[in-house]
Amino acid sequence: MTVWVGTSWKMNKSLAEAERYAEDLLRGLGGMELGAVRPFIIPPATALSTVAEVLGSGSGVLLGAQNAHWEDHGAWTGEVSVPQVADAGAQLVELGHSERREHFGETDETVRLKVAAALRHGLTPLLCIGEPAAVRDAGGSAGFILDQAARALHGLTPGQLSRVLIAYEPVWAIGAAGRPAAPEELHGPFAALASAYGQQVAGLLYGGSVNEENAAALLGIPHVDGLFIGRAAWQADGYLRLLETAARTAALRHRAGSAPTTTS
Ligand code: PGA
Repeated sequence: MTVWVGTSWKMNKSLAEAERYAEDLLRGLGGMELGAVRPFIIPPATALSTVAEVLGSGSGVLLGAQNAHWEDHGAWTGEVSVPQVADAGAQLVELGHSERREHFGETDETVRLKVAAALRHGLTPLLCIGEPAAVRDAGGSAGFILDQAARALHGLTPGQLSRVLIAYEPVWAIGAAGRPAAPEELHGPFAALASAYGQQVAGLLYGGSVNEENAAALLGIPHVDGLFIGRAAWQADGYLRLLETAARTAALRHRAGSAPTTTS
């Protein structure tokens, strides 16, 4: 069982800051027993190659991009393609984050095309799904996210699906304007995701206001295979503390003998 613990830096960090973060992360990981925990970091596209260079090949830290176009190349001004982010060092691509859906016209259909492009080039798609507050209030969370996932993953073979990570990130829980979800609010959505995809995908992650106080409890929710973190991991020491918490929680869970929920 893999416990995925990663962070997207969103539109933050200069090259010098990115380099320092990667160096601090490597130093911190040197003294850490990660066990089943698999770290991943998602810098802005400008910093991918810098971070890739610092991490080198044996760090165990997966590197990701925050987005990539579905076409390999062409007249798409301002976009970067999957082969381009892969060339810069990305092994994973975050797709369909709610900020991209809200501000940049990302749709289930463009997300589907991008998931297919990532898989075509051997990268891991990290598909983000999540419902707005009004949908939650109307009791529609599970249906909404299952619908998003089904549209984005439409047409994939079982083999392709097994390489996909899904991050459930309720829109109302993300960012400075969000509020942390209470674990009991997440049981229903994760049970729904697990029954649809639990044995089929590489992992089901939770994201939205994850911090040092709530990380262990969130990882204790049935079917949660990892955490996708923003603000609390934007400094390397914060991320390292979250990795430590996750490693400790995963070790306890392993000792308690709880069954993994996915095939990874
Ligand atoms: P946050 O961001 O942890 O800062 O709420 C999460 C996300 O957007 O993935």
